[in-house]
Amino acid sequence: MSAFAYRDGELFVERVALSAIAARFGTPCYVYSRAALEAAYREYDEAFAGAEHLICYALKANSNLAVLGIFARLGSGFDIVSGGELARAIAAGGDPAKVVFSGVGKRASEMEQALAAGILCFNVESAEELARLDAVAGRMGKRAPISFRVNPDVDPKTHPYIATGLAQSKFGVAFADAPALYRHAAKLPNVAVHGLDIHIGSQITELEPYREAARKALDLVDVLRAGGIALTHVDLGGGLGIRYRDEHPVRISEYAEMVRDLFRGRPERLVFEPGRRLVGGAGVLLTKVEFLKPGAVKNFAIVDAAMNDLLRPSLYDAWHPVDAVRPRAGDVKEWEIVGPVCESGDFLARGRHLALAPGDLLAIGAAGAYGHVMSSNYNSRPRACEVVVDDSQAHLVRRRETVEDLFAHERVL
Ligand code: LLP
Repeated sequence: MSAFAYRDGELFVERVALSAIAARFGTPCYVYSRAALEAAYREYDEAFAGAEHLICYALKANSNLAVLGIFARLGSGFDIVSGGELARAIAAGGDPAKVVFSGVGKRASEMEQALAAGILCFNVESAEELARLDAVAGRMGKRAPISFRVNPDVDPKTHPYIATGLAQSKFGVAFADAPALYRHAAKLPNVAVHGLDIHIGSQITELEPYREAARKALDLVDVLRAGGIALTHVDLGGGLGIRYRDEHPVRISEYAEMVRDLFRGRPERLVFEPGRRLVGGAGVLLTKVEFLKPGAVKNFAIVDAAMNDLLRPSLYDAWHPVDAVRPRAGDVKEWEIVGPVCESGDFLARGRHLALAPGDLLAIGAAGAYGHVMSSNYNSRPRACEVVVDDSQAHLVRRRETVEDLFAHERVL
């Protein structure tokens, strides 16, 4: 059962009415369900029960400390892409020994921070990064555990901005270059070769691209083993999609069956980096209708959330469900749901059929992933607060920014 459901004509999250959250914390406000977060993690984890595996939640999807803490307590590791994310994971109670570090542009200071913390693995994405890491580790008297992120050149059939495993993408090292890089790395004094990593994209709804990429990865692992380089883990990345509208995302059970079949009898431990799948469906963005502006061509419902709060519709033309918190009887019209930001690209949803009145609350669904984390202060709008609901309790886990926060780091000359 979904954590978000109507009861007596009103939308609830677990046992709390969204209208009560709006009254207490104001809008716009991100609301997450603890039960939904835990259920999503457990589904992934249990699908691999019996197989040696580690889930490293990709915290770029939602890095609120409360969310990270919930996953850390369930035993999750973390996939990070910056020193800031490492600090967050640790502040939330995450175990650095379960952290993998991805990303094409790791700074020397971030490498130092991660080596000092004792992370599980660096997912190295280029020859130059390897050289830098070897040098940094050498200066610190440490050996850096590494994987290469290999680009399998597989089409994940997703939005071009979030496809990462194609030959033309900036991510990973080319498949053809990988064996020589591994041989080179194996000779370096300050790195230890541990694994192989692939991540082909995000919001992937089909199984085939995964199968193709995983097969290619295993062929490479076998080539390396034959050449005397035995890897201890294979990181299959993240990317499993969720339902926003009418997609039929791959079921975790199907994905797990495919992976288990490929890895049956193999010695490598499995690592995964899911982001969206663990948090996307567990959150909504709660917003209030400020004004209705019916027009000759289009009807605009101007709400108090905007592209600075939820960028996905503007950036990717993404479709998020929009539901009235208390659906009203009356005239259903087609609405453009837009924010107050001074850009025509500032829309949250288009062409939605709703009966609306000023003051109504709307829940923008499937907003738990890449929502608050991608928000900004554009138009000097304080960022929204975040709330986690746990059964009948609502906890404020990030306060709304104040106007003073907006320019606290600036000064007049
Ligand atoms: N691992 C790596 C190396 C990644 O780059 C990503 C996401 C993930 C794991 C997690 O992918 P997920 O399981 O969440 O699909 N802002 C975009 C999504 C960008 C994804 C970037 N990389 C959006 O709002 O759709």
